[in-house]
Amino acid sequence: MSTNEPLPNMTDQPDNPAALRRRAKQVLKDNDRGRYTVPNPTIYPFQWNWDSCFTALGLHAIDPARGWRELVTLTEHQWVDGMIPHIVFHRDDDRYFPGPAIWATGHQSPKASLGVLTSGITQPPVLGLVLETLSNRSDLDDPTLRPIARRLVAAADRWHRWFVDHRDPDRQGLVAIIHPWEAGRDNAADWDDALQVVGTDQLLPYRRCDTEHAEAVERPTDADYDRFISLLQTFRSRDWRQSELHDASPFRMVDPGFNACLIASDLALGRVAARLGDADVAARATRRARSKTAALDRLWHPGLGQFVCWDRIVDRRSDNASVAGLLPLLALSAADPRSAMLATRIERWMDVAPFGLASQDPTSKVFDPVRYWRGPSWLVVNWLIVKSLLDQGRHDLAERLIESSLALVATSGFREYFDPTTGDGLGGDGFSWTAAMTLEFLGLTRQC
Ligand code: GLC
Repeated sequence: MSTNEPLPNMTDQPDNPAALRRRAKQVLKDNDRGRYTVPNPTIYPFQWNWDSCFTALGLHAIDPARGWRELVTLTEHQWVDGMIPHIVFHRDDDRYFPGPAIWATGHQSPKASLGVLTSGITQPPVLGLVLETLSNRSDLDDPTLRPIARRLVAAADRWHRWFVDHRDPDRQGLVAIIHPWEAGRDNAADWDDALQVVGTDQLLPYRRCDTEHAEAVERPTDADYDRFISLLQTFRSRDWRQSELHDASPFRMVDPGFNACLIASDLALGRVAARLGDADVAARATRRARSKTAALDRLWHPGLGQFVCWDRIVDRRSDNASVAGLLPLLALSAADPRSAMLATRIERWMDVAPFGLASQDPTSKVFDPVRYWRGPSWLVVNWLIVKSLLDQGRHDLAERLIESSLALVATSGFREYFDPTTGDGLGGDGFSWTAAMTLEFLGLTRQC
């Protein structure tokens, strides 16, 4: 460098924390539709359940009231039976398939008469976790905020009760998902065997849109999509009567990650309810969490040293090692010997695939570093893992995952997901939850 050349301005470097924070906030502002946020304007132009919850954390950092509003909007579309749906179709947009006309849910959703329809399935329950995180950053005695927090507590409690009634009707202890989209991990290898039995002969003709906005090799296959749509048709033929869907579904999977989110959300809900003086909800939520934690034992795979899925249709434990099986770290105590085993798995996976945490065991045969939930790293999952590691006192490992997650966005942008072997950005760009998690990780770095 010649002595006359100006030195680079470090505050303008894209990976400078202040610059990263600014860019993350801009993504959230771009995707903000006033009362809700879209995950991404082209691939996902509506409100998604768990995206909104994670995104609320980022919005709260910009404007606390807007963060709370995101959660309130989501719960305004809670079904009369208690389910909080996975998509709220606030406005027409034909860039996404399947849209509201395909779901045809109608009657159950409280704002259907106003023209706002929803999908007919749900998503991982992280509302309770986010509610507690926001509550910890707020003054719950504030007379404007207190009723909002109480309302969200009631909504989460109703949703969690719905899970027990409609996704564990035989009271086996854990809840099942009835569609891969419910897990939020659409094409995870966890479903490969189970999806084989989902018939596609009655499939109506359809055209997917996602591959028009993202590379086909980074998305679920057409064969996966046929099954996704076939399941939707099955449920629609029952007019979305949730009380029938569990038993009618040819896909019933007990996912350890999903159940871990529910347990952690119930524990969090119990603590917030106690702070708000709602002893009934506090006791109920804590009771639910305890019984589910005990039931997790059945999903432990001693050979792998992690949790795995249980296929409720054939009543069999899976042998596949996905990141869902590491998430019960959210629910276990640090003293539980399985916690240390899970932490060791996380370390090993990061030794092999060091850019974030892979969504599938990177040493497994089915690992695919670019195809959606079959290998890539997702910042929201990294955040859940970081949270559990911090709760367990594993600051070293948490810091390693925070740093590698931040390096991903600094280098590759606010992408939907990332190749854990190279750090390349994949899927859509300008993703709300990636931006929100960046703000979270930057906040955590300050605390470390
Ligand atoms: C995909 C993801 C799901 C997410 C949605 C919107 O379907 O698999 O987890 O909620 O996109 O971002």
